[in-house]
Amino acid sequence: MRTLLSRIGFGLFLAIGLVGIHAATTSADNGKPTYAPVANIKNLMNAINHEEMGLYGMMQADCKSGKLTSAQWNLMRHRAAMLAESGNILMQLDPPKGEAASWRKHAESFREAAKKLKKPMIRRKTDLVMAGLGEVQKQCDACHKAHRPE
Ligand code: HEC
Repeated sequence: MRTLLSRIGFGLFLAIGLVGIHAATTSADNGKPTYAPVANIKNLMNAINHEEMGLYGMMQADCKSGKLTSAQWNLMRHRAAMLAESGNILMQLDPPKGEAASWRKHAESFREAAKKLKKPMIRRKTDLVMAGLGEVQKQCDACHKAHRPE
């Protein structure tokens, strides 16, 4: 009797374990491929964040250029989305200096500031977009202060 019960117990244990493993693998891959980052921090800083050559600089230049066409506004929204996405990518990378937890927080605050650009862009208000870019700039500076090597 005892052995029968312990067998049932073991069987249950095994079944629950298998269900657990199945759930873990299906929720982890979810059909989407995982990937190793290709771009490093400098790639992101130069191509996306740079004050002149990056998407960030292009948005600033667009705002200063005067009246924008519909196509320019649309493009600016795409650029803002990629600026925010670069915060997610940064989060996956290791900081050259400072603690990992602090790095992730800075990258997150940066992403959130960049996400806020969308609304004034939909409203097509260059002054509000410039103000939003100023908030993003604060996050650039804060992260550099904590994590950029001398
Ligand atoms: C989450 C942190 C973080 C944020 C946010 C961030 N940076 Fe950086 N940035 C760095 C680090 C770290 C380096 C140094 C990389 C290195 O030397 O390997 C750097 C380097 C740079 C460089 C020099 C790149 C080079 O080739 O040496 C520029 C330019 C730059 N950042 C601009 C910006 C601008 C502009 C923003 C905001 C729009 C910004 N960064 C936002 C962390 C950040």
